[in-house]
Amino acid sequence: MRVGFIGTGSMGSILLESFMSTGALHPDQVICSNRTREKALRIAENYPGLCVASNNIQVVREAEVIFLCVKPLEFKKVFDEVGPYVKPNHLIISITSPILLADLEKQLPCSVAKIIPSITNSVQAGASLMMFGSRCSEEERQLLRELFSKISTPLEIDESNTRVSSDIVSCGPAFMSYLLQRFISAAVEETGISREQATFLASHMIVGLADLISKGPFDLETLQQRVVVPGGVTGAGLQALENIGDVFNQVFINTHRKYHTDLEEVAHMFYHENK
Ligand SMILES: NC(=O)c1ccc[n+]([C@@H]2O[C@H](COP(=O)([O-])OP(=O)(O)OC[C@H]3O[C@@H](n4cnc5c(N)ncnc54)[C@H](OP(=O)(O)O)[C@@H]3O)[C@@H](O)[C@H]2O)c1
Repeated sequence: MRVGFIGTGSMGSILLESFMSTGALHPDQVICSNRTREKALRIAENYPGLCVASNNIQVVREAEVIFLCVKPLEFKKVFDEVGPYVKPNHLIISITSPILLADLEKQLPCSVAKIIPSITNSVQAGASLMMFGSRCSEEERQLLRELFSKISTPLEIDESNTRVSSDIVSCGPAFMSYLLQRFISAAVEETGISREQATFLASHMIVGLADLISKGPFDLETLQQRVVVPGGVTGAGLQALENIGDVFNQVFINTHRKYHTDLEEVAHMFYHENK
């Protein structure tokens, strides 16, 4: 099986490098292309055998399974270019949420899937979200589940939950690292601890917390109860956190608003441009 990647930006490169470094794919099995070819060539320097195609058409001609790792508004350009070369026996996967399975099935004559990865997959951790098109056979579904289980915990979701699930799995690392950064900055501002030391302590705390969650001795509520000694300092600190109000509701409201704008732009791109 040959696997292709169109787009080797942030997520395309994480995916193909994770598959190769875990041995899920051998570099000989991988062919990739990128608008700025030098970017793909730089990745290939570390993976002898990885083929950097001279264009997207070569990827489609030489691979059976193809990941589209470009941004939503770049899809039509890619489809216009490679569409005539896509065969019914291809399996094509989008990694971006506003491209709907129905759009993929309308634009392409083959099996399609949507898989939303996460930056956490670069260290073989975190979840990946899987959605399969109606033409996807059980063998194709199994192939994708097996591939992604090498770098993540794959979870099949209903496409109607794409946005909220992606917010948690895929945007979540950015949200949580932002909060951690604010936690560190406040420690520095309020106490004079050095940023370096606060970062070291906070990073080890969060890794320990993740381990605790993954090993599962406590649910989140029990974990808090075990740390908050009645009348103690943690409770005093938590009081301040209770004032965060609806900030997380606003996070989801904002992401969903942006998602709906993206969906409209994608629909316009596919069905109204050049008409
Ligand atoms: N980053 C994440 O954590 C994450 C997680 C899950 C899903 N995603 C999704 O993945 C998609 C890509 O995100 P990203 O962060 O990887 O963006 P990115 O870093 O901008 O990568 C996009 C890549 O696509 C290339 N490209 C654009 N048009 C092309 C074309 N016609 N042919 C070939 N290559 C082309 C770009 O090439 P150039 O080098 O010329 O710019 C760039 O390297 C987004 O839709 C995003 O929603 C991202």
